[in-house]
Amino acid sequence: MNKETFYGRQILITGGLGFIGSNLARRLVDLGAQVTLVDSLIPEYGGNLFNIAGIEDKVRVNISDVRDEHSMSYLIQGQDYLFNLAGQTSHLDSMQDPYTDLEINCRAQLSILETCRKHNPNVKIVVASTRQIYGKPEYLPVNEKHLLCPVDVNGINKMAGEWYHILYNNVYGIRTCALRLTNTYGPRMRVKDARQTFLGIWIRLLVEGKSFEVWDGHQLRDFTYVDDAVDAFLLTAASEEADGQAFNLGGEGTISLKELADLLVEINGSGEYAVRSFPPNRKQIDIGDYYADYSLISSALGWAPKVSLREGLTRTLVFYRQYLKHYL
Ligand SMILES: NC(=O)c1ccc[n+]([C@@H]2O[C@H](COP(=O)([O-])OP(=O)(O)OC[C@H]3O[C@@H](n4cnc5c(N)ncnc54)[C@H](O)[C@@H]3O)[C@@H](O)[C@H]2O)c1
Repeated sequence: MNKETFYGRQILITGGLGFIGSNLARRLVDLGAQVTLVDSLIPEYGGNLFNIAGIEDKVRVNISDVRDEHSMSYLIQGQDYLFNLAGQTSHLDSMQDPYTDLEINCRAQLSILETCRKHNPNVKIVVASTRQIYGKPEYLPVNEKHLLCPVDVNGINKMAGEWYHILYNNVYGIRTCALRLTNTYGPRMRVKDARQTFLGIWIRLLVEGKSFEVWDGHQLRDFTYVDDAVDAFLLTAASEEADGQAFNLGGEGTISLKELADLLVEINGSGEYAVRSFPPNRKQIDIGDYYADYSLISSALGWAPKVSLREGLTRTLVFYRQYLKHYL
């Protein structure tokens, strides 16, 4: 990928007002791309107009729903790249309202691909998939050959959404690539509650000077700073080698949730938390320890995380100390 790859190109980002989508939009604007964001701004999800503060005059924003085939067929035409990030992200919500998760994470994905097949078969698509599709790991680190065995409705629908993309690549030659994201964090993530990530509510409470809860605390996890995730979206969009592939992303190392809580408190300079046992409805869909083997994307495309956890958390805390009010 060189700096010219996206210059002047037409780009559509679904979920573009959300956490990762808006960080991606910022980078693409800097690279001189013509960026359109489509987002439903459903209040329970991570979309937030403040996420595009400073670039609002440099992007086109279309508030619509990816389930609306008419909007999507208009928006997809003429695009060179489609970054497909719109999604229902809450695991618990997917258990309480499985049909909405099905509609957004599965059916809408198929209809987006059908629209591409009919109206824009030359578009290149990168879709945001998730490590959740592996379920409880049978071995660590988890590579792409690990069995897919989701533990919740969200994981099943995301898995199907991902595989529709791979199928359309293999059968119809529409170039697609899936990134299986692990915990991604950074400025512009949803911190109002734990719908997007537990780390969001931890950061909110820490910045507010309140105690947060760590459930269990022994689980091992890996974390990707959002700028590193954005690098991966751009690299895979620009690369023919990525077509038809699903790649894990990961972090620089692994950390238990209790160690993560200690690190956050240390970086913040103050703060406290309580260790609790898992609420039963969460325990049922918890995946235990997880960390990814991301050597496939490293060897194919040279991707590796660059931002350390300490540095990424520091940048995130600085952001929310300044802008928390826009995220409540
Ligand atoms: N953040 C993570 O740790 C993580 C981990 C694994 C996978 N992912 C995937 O990455 C993608 C982006 O996630 P994020 O963390 O930026 O979350 P996010 O909630 O901030 O972004 C998703 C965006 O999609 C929008 N959206 C939801 N349903 C929509 C619909 N029907 N029509 C149009 N827009 C809709 C939301 O308003 C939101 O802005 C999602 O697909 C998610 O599953 C994220």
